[in-house]
Amino acid sequence: MSLPLHIGFIMDGNGRWAQNRGVPRKLGHEAGAKALEKIIDRCRTVGIKYATFYAFSTENWSRPKEEIDALMSLLDRYITELHRKISSGEADVYKDVRICFVGDLSVFSDERLNKLRSLEKLTEKPSEQMRLNIAINYGGRNEIVSAVNRFILENPGVPINEKEITSRLYTDGCPDPDLIIRTAGEMRLSNFLLWQSAYSEYYSSSVYWPDFTPKELDIALDAYSQRTRKFGNVAK
Ligand code: IPE
Ligand code: IPE
Ligand code: MG
Repeated sequence: MSLPLHIGFIMDGNGRWAQNRGVPRKLGHEAGAKALEKIIDRCRTVGIKYATFYAFSTENWSRPKEEIDALMSLLDRYITELHRKISSGEADVYKDVRICFVGDLSVFSDERLNKLRSLEKLTEKPSEQMRLNIAINYGGRNEIVSAVNRFILENPGVPINEKEITSRLYTDGCPDPDLIIRTAGEMRLSNFLLWQSAYSEYYSSSVYWPDFTPKELDIALDAYSQRTRKFGNVAK
């Protein structure tokens, strides 16, 4: 069975999961964070080398302040807890996992930024088996524009090419995603990995993200293994 090297996850449906239960949306996000840990573990154990999870988009700032505050507080708690678990060696889930944050992090306070950077440093290990990207304040268009601007500043007057853009994206060092999984039955990218997903396979799962179990991931992987990837060529 062919396994994707890199999977992108659009974790959608936390709000509807909560609404269906008659509880505040923030409880949907809390449940989503629990589901995330189980999926990271499954990715690692089946041998996925790169996984990128879309946690907060550049467009999500348009949500009500109360929800943004809840999401940022969840992010802070999640990071602190990860740091504690990893440094105490308590969490097997993150063994040999390198964590990177992708997105425009310049909007965050120094305090939050230091926490994010220190978790990245803590997990920067030579024995890395899986790279885990967490996308926060991430937007595909913003990513491309900032890559182009950096190139222009470094190389005034020089024509840009695809390689120069790719190497300046937040995901530098990762191959393009082979598979993009979106939950909650939605079928759109919502500004996720626009450049990198040129030839990705898409998979839409009808379950809300908090209900996306390792078994659901196995079903998606099975569907992926039956796809024929041609990259513009004829089927081999
Ligand atoms: C995904 O769940 C989490 C984030 C975008 C942060 P949603 O909050 O978008 O859930 P729905 O789409 O409203 O159900
Ligand atoms: C995409 O989900 C962003 C994340 C999963 C972080 P949204 O729920 O924000 O996307 P739209 O608004 O339905 O397209
Ligand atoms: Mg949504």
